[in-house]
Amino acid sequence: MCETHRDNPVRFTFPSASEQETDRLGALLADVLRGGDIVALNGELGAGKTRLVRAIVHSLCPAGQRVSSPTYVLVQQYEGETPVFHFDAYRLADVDEFLELGAEEIFEDGGICLIEWAARVAEVLPPSSLRIDIRVTGPESREYELAGSDGRAIEIIEAIRARAGVRP
Ligand SMILES: Nc1ncnc2c1ncn2[C@@H]1O[C@H](COP(=O)(O)OP(=O)(O)OP(=O)(O)O)[C@@H](O)[C@H]1O
Ligand SMILES: [Mg+2]
Repeated sequence: MCETHRDNPVRFTFPSASEQETDRLGALLADVLRGGDIVALNGELGAGKTRLVRAIVHSLCPAGQRVSSPTYVLVQQYEGETPVFHFDAYRLADVDEFLELGAEEIFEDGGICLIEWAARVAEVLPPSSLRIDIRVTGPESREYELAGSDGRAIEIIEAIRARAGVRP
């Protein structure tokens, strides 16, 4: 079935009352994400984009790989069974600079792509990208809202919705 929800995206909000709960969302995403998936992260400075990337990478990749905002290199790669590419669009001058990084080739490379400040490059992200918007609701609390309009994004959201209610 090829279902699209362009005008009415599928949404699921994961409330996180602590960094440990964000780690749990990261572990759930690590379970569900597969090569080729693209996750578009948005939220103000300090919202918790990198924190979620760290949680995902710690679940997917062997220990010891440091995760910080890829400020200077703009894209960082973490090794694992499925490689993870971590972009940060904050300092990019424009979409062309993102494309010059080889973003479209990397999207096709079979890894999982996680993009901070993704709204800045939204026009070149595939419609099947999973969007995660982060709201700061208190010093230790955040809301991670997953939204998707197409294909894989909807599958990922439904899988997370199904797993999120089941406490380990
Ligand atoms: N429940 C929570 N989930 C995630 N982060 C939290 C939570 N509570 C507090 N924090 C703190 O919020 C901060 C999130 O910082 P992080 O670097 O992830 O933000 P960011 O969205 O990547 O910002 P930037 O746009 O500067 O890259 C960290 O200091 C983290 O300790
Ligand atoms: Mg960051």
